[in-house]
Order: sequence, then C-alpha cells, then structure tokens
Amino acid sequence: MIPETSQTDGRDDALLVETSGLTKRYGARITAVDDLDLSVRRGEVYGFLGPNGAGKTTTLRMILGLIKPSSGTATVLGEAPGAPAGLARVGALVESPAFYPYLSGRDNLRVMARYSGVAPSRVEEVLQQVELSGRAGDRFKKYSLGMKQRLGVAAALLKDPELLILDEPANGLDPKGMADMRAIIRGVREEGKTVLISSHLLGEVEQICDRIGVILRGKLVAERTMEELRGREGGLLVRAEPLEEATRVAQDLPEVEEAQVADGMLRITVDPARAAEVNAGLVNAGVRVSELRMVERSLEEMFLELTGGETV
Ligand SMILES: Nc1ncnc2c1ncn2[C@@H]1O[C@H](COP(=O)(O)OP(=O)(O)O)[C@@H](O)[C@H]1O
Ligand SMILES: [Mg+2]
Repeated sequence: MIPETSQTDGRDDALLVETSGLTKRYGARITAVDDLDLSVRRGEVYGFLGPNGAGKTTTLRMILGLIKPSSGTATVLGEAPGAPAGLARVGALVESPAFYPYLSGRDNLRVMARYSGVAPSRVEEVLQQVELSGRAGDRFKKYSLGMKQRLGVAAALLKDPELLILDEPANGLDPKGMADMRAIIRGVREEGKTVLISSHLLGEVEQICDRIGVILRGKLVAERTMEELRGREGGLLVRAEPLEEATRVAQDLPEVEEAQVADGMLRITVDPARAAEVNAGLVNAGVRVSELRMVERSLEEMFLELTGGETV
C-alpha cells in the first residue's frame, strides 16, 4: 500500500522520499543495494554520499522507477516510484541525458519542452537558472563538460519539479564547475525545492547539504544532519594551567563525562552547551583558563570513522 501523500499536510518535516528495506540484487553474488532505509525531508538538500560502486546510482534508479527493487519499497512524493503522478513532480539527472549534438542547448531544451508538454517560456527561465543563457545558442557538442552538466540540470528543472534528483552532477568538473553547480543547487533550494544529490566526494557537497546519508557496499551506514556530522557533540578543548589540576577538576564536574590531556590541551567530553558551567567550575577551583572552544571534528575525520577507514 502506498502511504497517504505527505504533500497535503503542510508539515515542514514531510518526507518526499522514503525507502524501507530497499534492496537490489544482481544474480546470486551482487547485492548492489542492501536493506536501505533513507528519508529525504521537504525543503532540504540531502547529500547521498558513498565511494564508487557503493550503490548510489542503483538506489536513485529505483527511486525513479527506472529499475525494480528485488525487495523493499520506496515512496516518492507519496507515490510508488515511476507512478505518473509522482514523476510529474520530480526532475532528475541520473544518466547523462541524450542531447542532440548538432542542436544548440536552447533548441535541445525546446525539443524536450515540447514533448513533455512544458510551456516554451520555461526554456529561457531554466537557461538563466543554470547560467547558460549566454551560450544557449551554441551547439551542444561544443559545450564543455560543465556546460553539458548544467544543461542536464536545466532539463531536469524544465517541468518545475518539487524534487530534484541529481546523480553526481559535479563528477569530473573542475573546481570552478563544481562551485557553479553548488550555486545552482543553492538557488534551487531557495526556490523551496527539495534536492537529493549523490556524490563520492564529501568536500563537493558538504557546503550545500542540510543532511547526508552515507552508503557503503549497499548499506546506509549513517544519516545525519551536517550539524551532527560536524561533531558538535564532540566536546570542548580547553587551554588551562596547571593542566593536571585542570584535568582533575574537570573530571569531578557533574556535567563532564571524561577529561584528558591531548596535545597540551584539556579535551573534555561534554555537551558543548555546558561550556559556561565547565569554565566556571575550572575557574572556581583556581585553574587559569586561557582558551575554551568546541571540538570541531573535520568531516573527513568523521567520514573515516563512519566508513571504518575506507576513503571516499
Ligand atoms: N546492471 C548491473 N548488473 C550487475 N551489477 C550491477 C549493475 N548495476 C550496478 N551493478 C553493481 O552494483 C554495485 C553498485 O553500483 P552503483 O549503484 O552504480 O554504485 P555507485 O553509483 O555508488 O558508484 C556495483 O558493484 C556495480 O558493479
Ligand atoms: Mg553512480
């Protein structure tokens, strides 16, 4: 059964994509996607992150109804994948779309608009949105990779979808191309749309995502907000003197879980929201505190932890 569409209830946390036990096997030996539960909330940019071969494209193809799962379910905008009512509200760039090489970018979009029943005026709008207006009259085959990718995004935006699904849109782009792609995605989000974007590079998407899901060998190993991923729960770093005294005092504070010395500083496992109490506790015990800040674990560090040392 397909759950009631969440679009009508107006909640901000409505799930636009939800999968449950989603699995895709190829033959007896390959499980490309393995019991995957992920959820994309309305209005967010969701980064679907994993190394090559992890199962990202397979997942997105199932979500779009391009291939059938071996087991499990997916719901997209309250509909089964591939159901016409849902598809009309989803734009996707999964496989590089087949553009006519000898037609201009603009004419390619016009052809697409015509056969998908989209008003021709949308063509100029989406060209502007991906900043391709200036080169829209050039033949597609003359386009750089970045321009081709942008035209692909423009095509996905033609029908003004609520949900935009992009499979590694920054793949192979130079830093400028990646920055352009990020700017486009930010713009799409500002229009109130929801974006599901896959990548094998954390650095490519971390600046634009609200949440990320990490897939490894077909399994979702983590689904976190960027806040959580940045390790805000990681505690406090304190520069204090005398250090041994500070450690002892910190260990005895009621809010502190653990305190130890690392690289000449005191590393305290504690909710960072309790920083004031920790500071007061130390100072009241006669410890001189010259610096106190949150531990910001790098995302790369976090990623290595999540993936058990496998680089992405
Ligand atoms: N049509 C297919 N037949 C057999 N194996 C496949 C097929 N499509 C994907 N796979 C395998 O499934 C795994 C996941 O692939 P894919 O979803 O493309 O990963 P990603 O997009 O994360 O790089 C890989 O091991 C890949 O070789
Ligand atoms: Mg892929």
